[in-house]
Amino acid sequence: MISTTGVTLQYGGRALFSDVTINFTNGNCYGLIGANGSGKSTFLKILSGEIDSNKGYVSLTPGERISVLQQDHFQFDETEVIKTVLKGNPRLFEIMEEKEILYAKEEFSDEDGIKISELEAEFAEMDGWQAESEAEILLAALGLEKEIFELKMKEISPPQKVKVLLAQALFGNPDILLLDEPTNHLDLASIRWLEDFLINFENTVIVVSHDRYFLNKVCTHIADIDFGKITMFVGNYDFWYEYTQMTQKQARDLNKKNEAKAKELQEFIARFSANASKSKQATNRKKLLDNLTLDNIKPSSRRYPFVFFKPDREVGNDLLEVKGVSKTVGDRRVLDNVSFVIRPGDKVAFAGTDALAKTTLFKILSGEEEPDEGSLKWGVTTSRAYLPGDNSGYFDNCDYKLTDWIRQYSRDQQLETEVRGWLGRMLFSGDEALKKANVLSGGERVRCMLCKLMLSGANVLILDEPTNHLDLEAITALNEGLIRFPQTLLFTSHDHQFVQTVANRIIEISPDGVTDYRGSYDDYLNNLDIEALRNIYAG
Ligand SMILES: Nc1ncnc2c1ncn2[C@@H]1O[C@H](COP(=O)(O)OP(=O)(O)OP(=O)(O)O)[C@@H](O)[C@H]1O
Ligand SMILES: [Mg+2]
Repeated sequence: MISTTGVTLQYGGRALFSDVTINFTNGNCYGLIGANGSGKSTFLKILSGEIDSNKGYVSLTPGERISVLQQDHFQFDETEVIKTVLKGNPRLFEIMEEKEILYAKEEFSDEDGIKISELEAEFAEMDGWQAESEAEILLAALGLEKEIFELKMKEISPPQKVKVLLAQALFGNPDILLLDEPTNHLDLASIRWLEDFLINFENTVIVVSHDRYFLNKVCTHIADIDFGKITMFVGNYDFWYEYTQMTQKQARDLNKKNEAKAKELQEFIARFSANASKSKQATNRKKLLDNLTLDNIKPSSRRYPFVFFKPDREVGNDLLEVKGVSKTVGDRRVLDNVSFVIRPGDKVAFAGTDALAKTTLFKILSGEEEPDEGSLKWGVTTSRAYLPGDNSGYFDNCDYKLTDWIRQYSRDQQLETEVRGWLGRMLFSGDEALKKANVLSGGERVRCMLCKLMLSGANVLILDEPTNHLDLEAITALNEGLIRFPQTLLFTSHDHQFVQTVANRIIEISPDGVTDYRGSYDDYLNNLDIEALRNIYAG
């Protein structure tokens, strides 16, 4: 069991958490939910001990081990894949290394002998002999091939790295498992596998996710962060949603009734307080009125950002021609002779199960990378804005305040009030606009990137998985902004509804070539033959 007592954390003038006391007990899977920037990732870091709270403490049942899904994709670059997984259980890994050093010695002292037998005993107790095969089973279950197990992390592709880090977190049956948005960057088949893994996992899981389907599938409890507090509900996401909607409605109804009653009493008092015969009644009613309290309903601090892309000019007929583009990443040819032509008004969703292929294509379209073969030609009237899947380069070491960060991308060095206006639309108001770019949460970063795109006035938007990290309100706002966008859009998304409501053309990139379909996503799926459909769902 892991629990917090009176945990309080303050950043500048803002209390992220105040006095949070909560227990997470064995056998349950807790979905930690809340708006972007509400403090989910920070709370997990407090639980794992990565950061300290200002007040209060975290307690863990003695002897229990916490395992965390690492967010830094480069941390293990020099380590082999299999060893990266084994490092998920640090003590076991340490024993393995110490043993290796001792056995490699030419001469053994008595002390070495004792040390070895102690290490072997601890190793056996931890089921050490099973460790490597367990690690291999996890990697294989996530669809990784044996050939990469001995490679260094820097030698494998980003989607493969994500899976290895997930295997690391799950390795060795941890007592407490902390997962921060584990489904981002995972393919559909791996997400389904993770769901089953978590459903069957017998210890404690605390998982942050914005994916309602995933939360419904795996969670036994929902812990909602709002107004610096965490409220626990027994049940899955849908239950939490229905329950909160219902209690809010009841509170609103009661308030309405009380308001009407108050008004009636006030009118009576106003009319009769000067009237001697009625003054006693008026005084009584005044007492009633004083006792009538209107509940201070706090609906939710979740808010909608404002997303509206206004192109500076219309795009001409010659928009984009991609001819025979091929590209190899690592040792895999992810794009093989890809060709298509984009016309004005096209809102193209790029489908296909290979995320790396799509991301590579987008990097080429945005000019970030060159194709190995083939060419692409953009029309002279086009101006492009790109939302990359990985935005860390814009924030990680950036010391700018948000106001200065935004100003970098405004073409006419906007006035402070205008910059503040943009930040307000992205939900950073007051002192929030003065925080440093490098402290932003995942969703806050995407909001800022969307602001950069809005400021660009581009007439072609290239968006790689724009809904990743965003909360429901932000996804809705972006969804509507893109439906209204009058020009050309090239995007990828694993959010079915998002694709269905935005796209009017689907281009599927698969190892067998390109399938080009004009129509909605649902029509496209309905038009696929059964086998192809099955492949899509199986990932
Ligand atoms: N050092 C800091 N100084 C000031 N504010 C900070 C600092 N570190 C984090 N924050 C702020 O704390 C808030 C919570 O961040 P956190 O990353 O925990 O959010 P989150 O709930 O995980 O959001 P998301 O859903 O976007 O991932 C954010 O508004 C963030 O900008
Ligand atoms: Mg987060």
